[in-house]
Amino acid sequence: MGAQMTRPYVILNAAMTLDGKIATTGGDSKISCKKDLDRLHRLRSEVDAVMVGVGTVLADDPSLTVRRVHGKNPIRVIVDGEAKTPQHAKVLDGSAPTILAVSSRARKEKIRKLRSSGAKIVVMGGVKVDLPKFMKELYSMGIRKLLLEGGSTLNWEMLKNGLVDEVRVTIAPWIVGGKKARSLVEGLGFPKVRNGIRVRLTKVERVGTDLLLAYKVVGVRDAQKTR
Ligand SMILES: NC(=O)c1ccc[n+]([C@@H]2O[C@H](COP(=O)([O-])OP(=O)(O)OC[C@H]3O[C@@H](n4cnc5c(N)ncnc54)[C@H](OP(=O)(O)O)[C@@H]3O)[C@@H](O)[C@H]2O)c1
Repeated sequence: MGAQMTRPYVILNAAMTLDGKIATTGGDSKISCKKDLDRLHRLRSEVDAVMVGVGTVLADDPSLTVRRVHGKNPIRVIVDGEAKTPQHAKVLDGSAPTILAVSSRARKEKIRKLRSSGAKIVVMGGVKVDLPKFMKELYSMGIRKLLLEGGSTLNWEMLKNGLVDEVRVTIAPWIVGGKKARSLVEGLGFPKVRNGIRVRLTKVERVGTDLLLAYKVVGVRDAQKTR
């Protein structure tokens, strides 16, 4: 991490099938093996906060807590421009603190309801949540290490903006196909490989039936141009 870093160190972690899907066409995202889930929960216990996009909250209703190993729960962070997180969502169950980042598109009434369920609401950005600014805000709240757990859209926006430091991907031994099945990173994409995000392989490990690959992000050329 750079000396003048004013944002959290971000680790993107995801489980995908051999064909790069993080969910099936039917929305099933239970991909990795039990040992890998233990590893994920251990990783959650080692970070200050874990972040997902509202698409993941709506699709999977995750708890984002540490349950499979002993350890502390991280702060839960949801990127949710329009404040669409349902009040009954597990991330609002009070079992760990939750921060919701909304944009000025979010209706005041929705914000009020979410606030009443105990979540901290941060308004950041006009249409979409301004992620570079939001990362600085999280840093100022004391969050130094952040685990990004998807989904495809938020992964793209975070990578494209040069906000990811490490990528850890578990490849599970399945092929599920499907043009509409979600993949690890979506968004607009880069037209040329040479414009893409350069990563360097740092670890290869067998975890149960799966394969864990870890990478350091070494270059985000277009991100610099788009800022
Ligand atoms: N296998 C795995 O490891 C794994 C992990 C997580 C998720 N998943 C899968 O991923 C899928 C969900 O992915 P998704 O792409 O639909 O949703 P997502 O990335 O979780 O959330 C994206 C949403 O976040 C909101 N948002 C607000 N500001 C944003 C910004 N600056 N950048 C990006 N997003 C912003 C947008 O909604 P608004 O426009 O309403 O603000 C956007 O549609 C599900 O199928 C889930 O099962 C798999």
